[in-house]
Amino acid sequence: MSKLLHLPFLLLLPLLSPPRAGAASSHHHHLRSLNFSLFQQETINKTGYIVVDGVAGAGVGQTTTPFGTIFVFNDGMTVTPNASSRVAGIAEGASITSSLDGLRSVSFAKITLRIRGLQGSISIVGGTHNIKPADHPVVGGTGDFMFVGGYVRSSPVDLEGVTVVYKIEFHLYWPPYAANGPSK
Ligand SMILES: *[C@@H]1O[C@H](CO)[C@@H](O)[C@H](O)[C@H]1NC(C)=O
Ligand SMILES: *[C@@H]1O[C@H](CO)[C@@H](O)[C@H](O)[C@H]1NC(C)=O
Ligand SMILES: *[C@@H]1O[C@H](CO)[C@@H](O)[C@H](O)[C@H]1NC(C)=O
Repeated sequence: MSKLLHLPFLLLLPLLSPPRAGAASSHHHHLRSLNFSLFQQETINKTGYIVVDGVAGAGVGQTTTPFGTIFVFNDGMTVTPNASSRVAGIAEGASITSSLDGLRSVSFAKITLRIRGLQGSISIVGGTHNIKPADHPVVGGTGDFMFVGGYVRSSPVDLEGVTVVYKIEFHLYWPPYAANGPSK
């Protein structure tokens, strides 16, 4: 066979071979990520208030609120479940009870963070379940968290007593075009 006949086949080779694992993971390395957990401390009538009464369904209980209840909060987020531990974030937001059993709500919040040398805020929106873990998409951020994506998972830790505690796990990703954030 002549060299000329070989040429098109050689040019096709890169297209025929399956993508190399190395190439895929090196592409992945451009996405900087950060995982950490904080504990949201919420005290009824101190850091969180019902501002609009609900209209139907379950009554006001330790874990339920009537459908349509609007609750606003400004909660400290500590580094351990202990309320006396260092505050590394503030969660400001509201939730609206959206199920008749009084357990589910739609929430939005701005979480101001000062953690691992990073400063700024992230904004989250999503459904919350009062007694089960729930994931909330991160819709964006400011400061060192500008353009951030990912999700936060909120799980109840302690629902007894005046102060309720939720564990908030942050899974944050910075796109390649974000100038700030953790170093590569
Ligand atoms: C964060 O967790 C995700 C999985 O949830 C993982 O893919 C990622 O590598 C982790 N990032 C860091 C910096 O540990
Ligand atoms: C919070 O305040 C409201 C209105 O004053 C009251 O009805 C409710 O019982 C209080 N809740 C708690 C847990 O103290
Ligand atoms: C919480 O932290 C405070 C101050 O560090 C400490 O005195 C207290 O014993 C801790 N509480 C628990 C339940 O660990």
